[in-house]
Amino acid sequence: MTAVGDGAPGPGQGGDNGPVGSCSSGGSLRPRNGTGGAADGPHEVKPVKATSDRLNYSGKTILAPMVRVGTLPMRLLALEFGADIVYSEELIDWKLLRSFRRVNDVLGTIDFVDETDGTIVFRTCARERNNVVLQIGTSDPERALKVGKIVENDVAGIDINMGCPKEFSVKGGMGVALMADLEKAKSVLHTLASGVSCPVTCKVRVLPDVEATVEVCKALAETGIAAIGVHGRTRDERPQHGNRNHYIRAVAEALSIPVIANGGSKEILCFEDIEKFRTDTGCSSVMVARAAEWNVSIFRKEGLLPLDDVIKKYLTLSVDYDNNGSNSKYCVQNMLRELQETPRGKVFLEAQTLEQICAVWDLADYCRKRQLEFKAAGLLGRREICPQILRQESADNGTPTKKIKLQETNDGIITMKIAYIRSLYPTDNDLPKTRLLGWVRTQRIGMPSYKTIQEGKLFQSVLTVNGVQYTSSMWEKNKRWAEQGAALVCLCSLGQVDSATLKADGSIL
Ligand SMILES: Cc1cc2nc3c(=O)[nH]c(=O)nc-3n(C[C@H](O)[C@H](O)[C@H](O)COP(=O)(O)O)c2cc1C
Repeated sequence: MTAVGDGAPGPGQGGDNGPVGSCSSGGSLRPRNGTGGAADGPHEVKPVKATSDRLNYSGKTILAPMVRVGTLPMRLLALEFGADIVYSEELIDWKLLRSFRRVNDVLGTIDFVDETDGTIVFRTCARERNNVVLQIGTSDPERALKVGKIVENDVAGIDINMGCPKEFSVKGGMGVALMADLEKAKSVLHTLASGVSCPVTCKVRVLPDVEATVEVCKALAETGIAAIGVHGRTRDERPQHGNRNHYIRAVAEALSIPVIANGGSKEILCFEDIEKFRTDTGCSSVMVARAAEWNVSIFRKEGLLPLDDVIKKYLTLSVDYDNNGSNSKYCVQNMLRELQETPRGKVFLEAQTLEQICAVWDLADYCRKRQLEFKAAGLLGRREICPQILRQESADNGTPTKKIKLQETNDGIITMKIAYIRSLYPTDNDLPKTRLLGWVRTQRIGMPSYKTIQEGKLFQSVLTVNGVQYTSSMWEKNKRWAEQGAALVCLCSLGQVDSATLKADGSIL
């Protein structure tokens, strides 16, 4: 797990019963069913020249950090709609530490790429250079500083998550665990704030007691941070609980640095409600999470856009920045919410690739065209940018990696280079092993058997079905994934899974 967040609900759950505020103008947060609408169609996001000015956190309207939601297309759309600052999803320090920075000329982005598997940990671009804040999950000052040094020139600010109540975070000493270890929290913030060139902030939850909340925030503010985000719920409170706006106000009154109010989405139905939240909390800056997750045009002063228009814009950006299809699907699911139950929503749920998702909003041709352009311009896939493969390329004197044959037989074992990408299989029924089991049952042949070998930290499985052996030459990080990879090879070889689909979703390059 890369990102764990701050009590993030699952896709489409939205975290509570939705907003209850009222608006004087603008559209409805309720998604409209049906097609199209008034979307502008494909649009360009123009790069903005980076300046050396430090980000100022006063008087700002901010997209809050949200795991899986706060990736590049959503951040750019929030900026287009009027947000001043956009936070990334929380990224855990060690994940960033094992990534390398790569300029992606084809997309015009800076990519931080996981060197072990070529996945994009963080993608950013010039348009958001002066507005993007990278949120880190950490429990260690030195690790935080190392991450800070890696990213400081590509982001406008760095935030430390001190509000996540999830077990994963707390067990690792991150998130709200830092609030309980004030010395550690101060050390993380001080080390980072004095060691990097960009401003540092933190995002906290309130404590049950208002005075204690103010005291902790005061102590954190003394570390040299530029601002502090305050979510008005305690570590044990959930989105359905009321937000303690008066706690946030007390912090804002006590501190001289900007305080960013957070937690108001239950009452944020339109832009005016953001302003009301600002007034209620006495803060000059506010940070919006769920209301933006549901309809990011919440940041438009002119009012909300119909959901279809927002989805089209979001998908266009997803295509333009080659966003991971399952990430885009997750975000659209969270916009559709109950509309997933409609006939159109069900077609959408069946979609697996970005192109299939785009097809639901009449953008399949656009997606295909752009993807072909990217390919022609030399966009590399995730395995092609892995250091191991790059090393191989330079050993070959810069000649491009040899084209991988889709299927070959090594020692009588049918071998294909297929990666098992966990996020492509959301339910157990979708898993390659489950599908293979279903198939062998219909064929009345013996159960598949798996034999797995381990080399270092990598695993490879050989699967036997009906006396034939299958394996993937893509080594995986654990035994389960290696078995799923072998099952995919078998399904593909038997024609039960289409190799074109596997190419489109990135499993085969
Ligand atoms: C889907 C989702 C993911 C979240 N991920 C993060 C995260 O990565 N880091 C973080 O500090 N908070 C995270 N949060 C918490 C929000 O940033 C915010 O504090 C909370 O939702 C309250 O604000 P709201 O009322 O505007 O939704 C997440 C919330 C949601 C709904």
